[in-house]
Amino acid sequence: MSGATATRSPATVGYAPWILHRATAVLLVLLLAVHVAVQVFGLTALYGLGIYQPLLDLTLVAVFTHGFLGLRATLLETTWNRGAKRLVIWALGVAFAAIVLVRIIG
Ligand code: HEM
Ligand code: HEM
Repeated sequence: MSGATATRSPATVGYAPWILHRATAVLLVLLLAVHVAVQVFGLTALYGLGIYQPLLDLTLVAVFTHGFLGLRATLLETTWNRGAKRLVIWALGVAFAAIVLVRIIG
């Protein structure tokens, strides 16, 4: 076993995206546990607290943010030229943001 890290270096993907990717990963562990507890095991107590929909919206935001950062990190590792990477990453970002906004506000 080498001592190399198995995840990406923040120097490659940028420090803010690196932190946000991990923060959303930890958040997802908690949110998806609650989601499955509610949807599969019928934890209906949350309905009474009035946080059912806000939590579901937050889960949607966390999934899309985390997924976007994962795709972005993967794209940055390709040998594509800088312009092509920027274009695809921006297109993905705008599309993902539009989907989330339309779902939550619309
Ligand atoms: C164990 C299996 C799962 C079941 C039975 C399940 C069930 C559901 C149901 C019934 C809803 C609609 C809730 C409502 O509108 O009141 C929902 C929404 C949602 N689920 Fe799941 N789910 C499961 C796993 C997952 C996983 C693994 C993820 C993420 C990776 C996920 C992410 C979401 C999100 C983001 C929403 C909100 C979607 C929206 O706003 O349109 N779910 N789920
Ligand atoms: C329990 C929830 C989750 C945890 C703890 C988790 C954690 C992680 C970690 C640690 C990484 C590696 C980051 C790096 O190398 O820089 C990663 C990458 C990634 N995650 Fe998640 N994740 C979770 C759920 C999800 C979900 C629901 C999606 C789908 C939307 C997703 C999509 C991705 C993608 C596309 C990557 C990049 C994959 C790659 O580099 O090959 N993850 N995740």
